[in-house]
Amino acid sequence: MHRAIRALLGSRWPLLGLAGAVAAVVVAVVIVADGGSLAQAAIALLLGLALVGLVVVGASARESEQRARKLEKQLKELSAATRTIATTVEAIATRQNDPSGGPLAAIIGAQRVDAAVRHDELISLHDELRTDLHATLTERQLGELSALANLYAMFGADDEVPVFGGFAASPQTVLRLASLVRRLPQDALIVECGSGGSTVWLALACKRAGRGRVVALEHHERYAARTRDALARHGLDGVAEVREAPLEPVTVGGEKHDWYAASAWSDLRGIDLLFVDGPPGSVGPRSRYPALPLLASALDDGALVALDDVERPDEAEVAADWLAEGADGVRLTDDGLVGRTRFFTATRD
Ligand SMILES: C[S@@+](CC[C@H](N)C(=O)[O-])C[C@H]1O[C@@H](n2cnc3c(N)ncnc32)[C@H](O)[C@@H]1O
Repeated sequence: MHRAIRALLGSRWPLLGLAGAVAAVVVAVVIVADGGSLAQAAIALLLGLALVGLVVVGASARESEQRARKLEKQLKELSAATRTIATTVEAIATRQNDPSGGPLAAIIGAQRVDAAVRHDELISLHDELRTDLHATLTERQLGELSALANLYAMFGADDEVPVFGGFAASPQTVLRLASLVRRLPQDALIVECGSGGSTVWLALACKRAGRGRVVALEHHERYAARTRDALARHGLDGVAEVREAPLEPVTVGGEKHDWYAASAWSDLRGIDLLFVDGPPGSVGPRSRYPALPLLASALDDGALVALDDVERPDEAEVAADWLAEGADGVRLTDDGLVGRTRFFTATRD
C-alpha cells in the first residue's frame, strides 16, 4: 500500500487518475441532480474509480521496470568488480610464485614505483613466502627432512630400507645414533630393544665406520623376520643380528612387567650404546622401564643410552625415574633431547 502511494506520488498518472475520479463523482452528482437514477450515478463512479486503479497499476509497473533496470546496472558493475578482483588475485599468485619480483614490477611498474617501495615490497614478499613455508612444514618436520637427507648422504643404502614413520624411530634419532657409532670403540657393542629400520641404519653406520656390531632384541616373530631380511638385502647380516626374544614376566623396582626373555640378552657384556625403542606401549604401562635395571650391569662405563618416544607421558616418566634412580651402581646424566629421543651417558659409581 505504502509502495503504491509512493508510486502514485512519483508519477504524473495519479493527477490524471484523480481528475478522472473527481470527474466521475461530478458526473454522478450531475446525473442525480438531473433526475438520473442512482444506478447510473453509481456506474459513473465505479468507472472513475476503475480509472484510478488503472493509473495506480500503471505507475507501480513503471517503478518496477525502473528498479529492474537499476538492478541490472548494479549487477553489471558487480560482475566488472569481480573480474578485477580475480585479475588481482591472479597477479598476486603469480607474484608469490616468482621471488625475482618480475611480475611484481609488471603489476606496479606502470606507476613508476621508486626503489625504496620496490625494496619494501620484496621484503614483504619474502616474509609471505617464509610464512607459507612454515605453514606447510613445522620446524620439527623441517628437522626430520634435513636429518633424512643427511642420513642418506652420510651412510648411504644400496637397497630399500624399511620406511620411516609409524613405529619406526625418526630420522633425527637414527641420524644421531648412526653418527655416534664413529665415536665408539672398535669392538663396540650396540644393543637395541625393538628392531626395524633403526637396526639397518645402525648396521650401515657400523659397516661404514668399520667398527661395532648390533644386537637387536625383537619379541615379534614377523618383525624379526622383516628386519633380518632387510639386513640380508644390504649384506649386513655379519654386522647386525636380530635375536627373537618373546616377552616374559619380570619384576623390577617392585613393578611387574613383560620384557624380553633373559635367554636372549643375559650373555651380553660391555654394551657401548643402548637404544631403547621397545617393547611397544601396547604391552603395558611403562613397558620400557626394565631396560635400565636389567641391562645396567652389562653397560660399559661411559656407555650411551637413548630412550625413544619421551614425548609420551609413560616414557617421560621412565626417563625421569632412570635419572633419579640409576641402577646397579650406574648413574645416568642427561645429554639432551634429539627429536623425540632422550640421550644419556651412563657412568659407574
Ligand atoms: C617402536 S618399534 C621399534 C622400531 C625400530 N626401533 C625402528 O626404529 O624401526 C617397537 C616394536 O613394535 C613392533 N612393531 C614394529 N612395527 C610395527 C607395526 N607397524 N605395528 C605394530 N607393531 C610394530 C615391533 O615388535 C618392534 O620391536
